[in-house]
Amino acid sequence: MQKNESVLVLDFGGQYCQLIARRVRECKVYCEIKSYKTPIEELKAKGYKGIILTGGPNSVYKDTSPRCDKALFSLGIPVLGICYGAQLMAYLLDGTVSPSEVSEYGKTPVTVTKPASPLFEGVPEESVCWMSHTDYISVPPAGFTVTAKTQDCPVAAMECPEKKLCAVQFHPEVEHTVYGQTILRNFLYNVCGCKGDWLMTSFIKRSVEAIRERVGDGRVLCALSGGVDSSVAAVLVHKAIGKRLTCIFVDHGMLRKDEGDEVERVFRKQFDMNLIRVNAGPQFLEKLKGVTDPEQKRKIIGEGFIRTFEAEAKKLGRVEFLCQGTIYPDVVESGTGDAAVIKSHHNVGGLPKDVGFSGIIEPLRDLFKDEVRAVGEELGIPANLVWRQPFPGPGLGIRVLGEVTPEKVATLQDADAIFRDEIAKAGLDRKISQYFAVLTNMRSVGVMGDGRTYDYTVALRGVTTSDFMTADWARIPYDVLGRASERIINEVPGVNRVVYDITSKPPATIEWE
Ligand code: XMP
Repeated sequence: MQKNESVLVLDFGGQYCQLIARRVRECKVYCEIKSYKTPIEELKAKGYKGIILTGGPNSVYKDTSPRCDKALFSLGIPVLGICYGAQLMAYLLDGTVSPSEVSEYGKTPVTVTKPASPLFEGVPEESVCWMSHTDYISVPPAGFTVTAKTQDCPVAAMECPEKKLCAVQFHPEVEHTVYGQTILRNFLYNVCGCKGDWLMTSFIKRSVEAIRERVGDGRVLCALSGGVDSSVAAVLVHKAIGKRLTCIFVDHGMLRKDEGDEVERVFRKQFDMNLIRVNAGPQFLEKLKGVTDPEQKRKIIGEGFIRTFEAEAKKLGRVEFLCQGTIYPDVVESGTGDAAVIKSHHNVGGLPKDVGFSGIIEPLRDLFKDEVRAVGEELGIPANLVWRQPFPGPGLGIRVLGEVTPEKVATLQDADAIFRDEIAKAGLDRKISQYFAVLTNMRSVGVMGDGRTYDYTVALRGVTTSDFMTADWARIPYDVLGRASERIINEVPGVNRVVYDITSKPPATIEWE
């Protein structure tokens, strides 16, 4: 199979590492992220068309700071250093990096001093970039020319065309750098000579071929949650092997309103897939009786999910492969493992290893979320599913605070459906990263008609975020919130108060439990 041209993003611990990789992919160039510790022989063997060194929080002259092998700069492969990566290039090639009294942070005017530089084609002499640094390159290495500067940074960019090395102190990947994407594209196309062969149509073609080759005449099982990743993975495998794929959809009874039927309609009717829907709501709710602790709820739902899946899978006899919707950020993030466990986010995709499969098929392993969506659209999956916001595996089980009962789930489903409807009507559904209703465990006094009420409070939550690790509360217009509140009170029995959550993450989390 023909290989894509590929670029390496070498990670020095910068917060923007994945963003850089996504921006490269947006230029239709495939790239992968590797740690700065990766041995140079391994990198050489990959035949990269270019290497990008990311930023990072360290100072290059400290002994403990992450470094790469100096030989990286003489492989003949073009290198772009960004921020820390720029400083590291300068330092390892005997330029001077100095601590500065003032850090430059935020939007900063930048002047291109060498407009003929291939990196700055189409970039005006004066523009705005995003800076975030304390150290700076005071003297570039021998053979380098300064190509841009700012008021406080004499070397905002530099290059050595003979060795195809270039560096920028600012962050081209951040959208505040107005010509950032042009600069990255220039590096990929003008310096590395990439042609841009990373297209979703060719990805689908190759992926289908690869699945066919791997599966042979075997069978594949997939746990379908109705989420974007598992849906796209399943449709891709279905395209490759048709009815030899069986999908099991465990409906735990805590999905959003009408969601179970929608999943069934799309996959069974539209795609004519082998779909087994297990309506296990009553069993799940029975096990959740009297349970109020969020982690306990997660555990019960997660285990129940696995047991239900196993029982159903057993009925099918031997199936050789399991298909999972793992995506690239999962691959990059797994293995770091030093973050504190705040919530056990067991994804519904994470299934038991002891079911006896001889292989796992993960067709989306190389894709970022936006690429998964593009593939989904290309495959003809309905837009509302492709653009669906993330939904936690335990579903409304962790949005009904305290004990989960069928009545509370039904109340929340109705309130949540109204909120989502109003958000969609206001054209905000793709602008807010995640939005939903929560049924709090709090009741308060109200008045309706002539009578006193003592009913539940629904909390509405909306956040904007790019990675879900941090999030800001969404500034939803008052009139949209007002309409949602009014409708919830009028249309959902048992609710007499609606509040909007204006807390960011941290200190709050996105979900309430
Ligand atoms: P938090 O609440 O931790 O959520 O800020 C971050 C993202 O993770 C989702 N989430 C979960 N997803 N199982 C899941 O599959 C879970 O138990 C779970 N808890 C939170 C949450 O919806 C948000 O997108």
